[in-house]
Amino acid sequence: MHQARAGAVRRRVRLLLATLALGAPVAYPLAVSGAPPAGGTATPAGADAASPAATANQAAPLAGGAARPVSGEGDGPHGAMAMPKQEQVLGKLVTPLPPNGGPPAGIDPAYWKFLVPADNAQSEARVALGRKLYFDASLSRDGTVACATCHDVSRGLTDRRGTSEGIGDKLGQRNAPTTLNALFFSSQFWDGRAATLEEQAKLPITNPIEMGQPDDKAVMAAIAKDGEYAKMFQAAYGRAPTFDDVGRAIASFERTLVFLDAPFDRFLAGDLKAIDDDAKAGWVLYNGKARCVSCHQISSSSPIGSDNRFHNIGVSARKQNFESLANKALEALAKDSSKEAQDRFALQTDLSELGRFVVTKNRSDIGAFKSQQVRNVGITAPYMHDGSIATLWDVMDHYNKGGEPNAFLDGGIEPLALTEKEIDQVVAFLFSLTDVRFAEDNKAELARQKQLAATRRPLRDEAAANRKTLPFERRAAGQNGQR
Ligand code: HEC
Ligand code: HEC
Repeated sequence: MHQARAGAVRRRVRLLLATLALGAPVAYPLAVSGAPPAGGTATPAGADAASPAATANQAAPLAGGAARPVSGEGDGPHGAMAMPKQEQVLGKLVTPLPPNGGPPAGIDPAYWKFLVPADNAQSEARVALGRKLYFDASLSRDGTVACATCHDVSRGLTDRRGTSEGIGDKLGQRNAPTTLNALFFSSQFWDGRAATLEEQAKLPITNPIEMGQPDDKAVMAAIAKDGEYAKMFQAAYGRAPTFDDVGRAIASFERTLVFLDAPFDRFLAGDLKAIDDDAKAGWVLYNGKARCVSCHQISSSSPIGSDNRFHNIGVSARKQNFESLANKALEALAKDSSKEAQDRFALQTDLSELGRFVVTKNRSDIGAFKSQQVRNVGITAPYMHDGSIATLWDVMDHYNKGGEPNAFLDGGIEPLALTEKEIDQVVAFLFSLTDVRFAEDNKAELARQKQLAATRRPLRDEAAANRKTLPFERRAAGQNGQR
């Protein structure tokens, strides 16, 4: 079993190289990650104002219908599936831990070692404790919000909302990414402000608008009401419960959420019928003309399709003046730049749109966010850090027109001149990345998105997609970015 999987990975890499050699033109410069385009810093944000067409196409706030959960039973608080039901469903999906804390099937032992901190090796007791905590709403101040409220098993381990709703029905500024495969990221959150899953897990619990606990003491007091916990912490870590171990146990549980068995993987492993011709053509485009590979490469050392870096692809440029916002952020950070403060800025203020800049204060990180994984992306709509993009067709429209022009736009984002057919093909490929355990959900989402896209393509801009002159070329020619 193990060996077969290792063989599959080798074949996968060979096939990847073969596809590249066969059909994909790779004669483009790879993205210069993180760096603004030449001359970018000299131009005030907004001078490169979007073309009239793009301005007219400003992302409308998500229509109520698009933001509503589609597959969740929604019989628990905040529209999530009730917790006991979620646990039951997930229990059937997650495979048991391999013996001796080794890697799950298909993952290289050396890579696994890199993914699991030395002080938090996987064990049954830790995973069991983490699972209980993940689904326990009593961890929140008002007893209505668990991790699984916003990372809901019935909704692709996210909440299918534009931005998330926490205690007191308060909405935050950011879209909830899925916890499926989150273990593979080298940093957590859209801006990477948490280094590990352990560190990440503690922040929502004490964030005022997510789970709302005032401090770790309050969290531990809430937990102490359930006598089971003392025993489970003892079994997991050999000591009395602590807040750090809450983070560790939840992280251990999240490391069981490996969902990399998609039709696409079966195709790469040699089953040529696992995906259809459109998806195959989409894979070639992904690695070539559509340039997705420059930030979302899929390989055995990057199985989820993220380069783990931060890029401004223009999502927040639709509605921000980056320069004045950046100055505001520097003032706020001078007063408090703790992790907790960064967490509040990200979730509760308009500084959210600055992305990575709030963590590094580097100008080149203004409006930059982490390349999100493309795994299981069929079941995690809506998209982007602010949930502003409703379907994968809209995602493609965004990239096709060269993102949203702004002074900090990543050099890897350019008009793609993709035809409608090619867009459909890349979308077909993206839907082939959903793990087979969510096949039904994926099918339902494909149908829903297709229908929505048939009537509504707010970001579609063929003139921009096919334009010959790029904004930075005008600047370079001394035309000051005027159109
Ligand atoms: C109120 C909704 C809400 C709750 C409750 C919540 N999250 Fe999240 N989660 C989010 C949002 C929104 C983000 C993105 C925030 C950001 O990037 O600034 C996020 C991000 C994450 C990420 C990062 C994934 C990535 O791709 O970077 C992980 C992992 C995660 N949450 C796990 C958890 C765990 C574990 C809990 C419980 C302790 C939890 N979340 C509770 C909404 C929520
Ligand atoms: C220059 C780097 C870069 C390139 C090229 C790129 N992406 Fe992205 N991608 C990102 C970043 C960064 C984000 C998150 C942006 C944000 O939220 O503001 C993202 C987000 C996404 C998302 C949303 C995921 C989610 O869960 O919300 C999808 C889907 C996606 N990209 C697919 C693609 C496809 C398909 C292509 C090729 C057409 C592509 N990307 C090209 C960097 C890139």
